[in-house]
Amino acid sequence: MPETTTPNPKPKPKPRPKVGAETVEPIAFPQDRTCPYHPPTAYAPLRDDPPFSRVSLFDGRSVWLVTGRAAARELLVDPRLSADRQNAAFPSPTERFARLRDRRVALLGVDDPEHNAQRRMLIPSFSVKRIAALRPQIQATVDLLLDDMVGQGPPAELVSAFALPVPSMVICALLGVPYADHEFFEEQSRRLLRGPAAEDSEAARRELDEYFHELLDHKRENPGDGLLDELIHQQHAAGTVDRDELVRLATILLIAGHETTANMISLGTFTLLQHPERLAELRAGLRADPPLMPAAVEELLRFLSIADGLLRVAKEDIETSAGTIRAHDGVIFATSLINRDGTVYDGPEDLDWHRADRHHLAFGFGIHQCLGQNLARAEMEIALGTLFERLPGLRLAAPPEDIPFKPGDTIQGMLELPVTW
Ligand code: HEM
Repeated sequence: MPETTTPNPKPKPKPRPKVGAETVEPIAFPQDRTCPYHPPTAYAPLRDDPPFSRVSLFDGRSVWLVTGRAAARELLVDPRLSADRQNAAFPSPTERFARLRDRRVALLGVDDPEHNAQRRMLIPSFSVKRIAALRPQIQATVDLLLDDMVGQGPPAELVSAFALPVPSMVICALLGVPYADHEFFEEQSRRLLRGPAAEDSEAARRELDEYFHELLDHKRENPGDGLLDELIHQQHAAGTVDRDELVRLATILLIAGHETTANMISLGTFTLLQHPERLAELRAGLRADPPLMPAAVEELLRFLSIADGLLRVAKEDIETSAGTIRAHDGVIFATSLINRDGTVYDGPEDLDWHRADRHHLAFGFGIHQCLGQNLARAEMEIALGTLFERLPGLRLAAPPEDIPFKPGDTIQGMLELPVTW
């Protein structure tokens, strides 16, 4: 069966602007996808003139959009671009985001040398070796959740039964956060990232702050063996991090550690079910060809590009092939388009894990490149591999066009995924 695209009743794309020209109104960014696994159709004109376009944000501001892979790689390692959200000229893709910029975000929202100091403390916990040692625990978590789901079904709602609890349980164990609190922090993460109103996101941030202050105080008296305990007892005791910084680190690790991977598992499952020939090959290779699953995960990361729109601001003028990015200009990296750059990928619209060039920017590039990528890969390989091996008859339990997915102004993924087997 050929690939099925999922129509979704969404607003029509805006008229085609002249890319790069200041005189014509730029395309609005971000916009909703029309199919959950393809970039928004409204972005099609932006692909005509890679690697740079201009787009307009919700507040009317016009910023640069990088759409080509080579240019993105060059700029994402350029120290003249800053990730400091407190810089007054930092671009805000939504009102929610604008309202949250008054507070520092660890790692993702700071530049070197502060960034480097924070990252160095955490790297050992996310190394290839450490994550390889976690694989049996991830497998046990996946098996347990599938036992429950199979015991209660069919059918099942895969996001709540599987895609969300897998990374949520794993990051809780890694950090030393009680999984018993998962309903609270999953809900607050959802409100922080998706609102819908800016007030919801602000309230969620306050709740999470209070939660982590209390949790860290509790851990000081009752040490456990998670990463947060390690940070308290080594770094805080040595005076290398203060209490607020610890709370900010805990917040980003917990949120980034469960929301993103949950979306990849749900959207990855939906996408594979919509590509039955590919899925048949993957299933056949699960035991016979072990490298196939990691290759499939890598291709799904490229194809789905769930974290679309990496944000930076220029601190100085930067010359590019399309002109000068001026100091204080906003620069956004559209990973969904970068990862389908037709000058580097053959058949960029195809889901094809045999392609020659597998390098993608789904985890970003440069100093902010995803800290949790080894963990995310292990979780996706184990979750998707085990799901399709245990349930050979897995299929959607609703017409694909009726299954809701996330709006374009947040991390992409399925809101729900009804399945049967
Ligand atoms: C498939 C799932 C994931 C995707 C697609 C993803 C994507 C990304 C991307 C694109 C960035 C760079 C953002 C930028 O440059 O502005 C990033 C950074 C980051 N990610 Fe992930 N991520 C995933 C899973 C995880 C997991 C499991 C963790 C675990 C804690 C994590 C923690 C982080 C952190 C801490 C950063 C900031 C790194 C820094 O600024 O140095 N991510 N991620």
